[in-house]
Amino acid sequence: MTKVTFDQKYASNKLYWGAKPSNLVKNFAKLAKIDHALDLGMGEGRDSIYLAKEQFKVTGVDQSEVGVEKCRKRAEKLGLKLKTVTDDVRHFKIAKNKYSLIVSSSLFQYITKSEAHQVASDIIAGLKKGGLIIASVFTYDDPRYKEFKKKCNELEPGSFLQVSGDIYSLYDCRELMSFFDSLRLLYYTEYDYYETHAGKGAHWHGVAELVAKKV
Ligand SMILES: C[S@@+](CC[C@H](N)C(=O)[O-])C[C@H]1O[C@@H](n2cnc3c(N)ncnc32)[C@H](O)[C@@H]1O
Repeated sequence: MTKVTFDQKYASNKLYWGAKPSNLVKNFAKLAKIDHALDLGMGEGRDSIYLAKEQFKVTGVDQSEVGVEKCRKRAEKLGLKLKTVTDDVRHFKIAKNKYSLIVSSSLFQYITKSEAHQVASDIIAGLKKGGLIIASVFTYDDPRYKEFKKKCNELEPGSFLQVSGDIYSLYDCRELMSFFDSLRLLYYTEYDYYETHAGKGAHWHGVAELVAKKV
């Protein structure tokens, strides 16, 4: 179901998340060695394209064929080399010890926390020594948390089954950090912000962001 939702979001010619990379990736990717990078849940590829421009050998994965195709065409137009894969991150095999950088930006909301925990373990195994994970999730401070608590079936703490059949997970204080606690933490923050991206009217989000290094 989430796939259908994102296919619809990405169907227009406009870029739903905009053309610019996320601030988190822009600010921290430079700490990673230029080598293989993996962007999980890349959407229309705003971060993948930025990383390819920065000379990383990028693989971008998303379940939305529409998003993946949009990214592929944009990369082609820009003359950038970028491998795109249409797959579910819960099935995608992350090669071990391959990547100097893995990005998981606003992805873990769409799978249960147990699944996110498994993907996080695979990410850690996929990083080379010295490699970085850049990740973000939405937190319990997100206004939707209270709404989901009232209306949805809570499959596990913070992971909700919506009426649409989609999973939505929101994360507790420091929970994202706990997924990567075997890595050296370089940056972690939680904050609330007012989102004004092109795809939807302005709205609040509670966010957690993390950058950590495999040592
Ligand atoms: C909020 S968007 C973020 C997109 C991109 N990371 C960015 O920041 O522009 C979340 C993305 O995760 C993808 N996604 C959700 N669940 C997924 C899954 N199980 N496997 C692969 N991609 C998934 C969606 O299709 C969507 O493109």
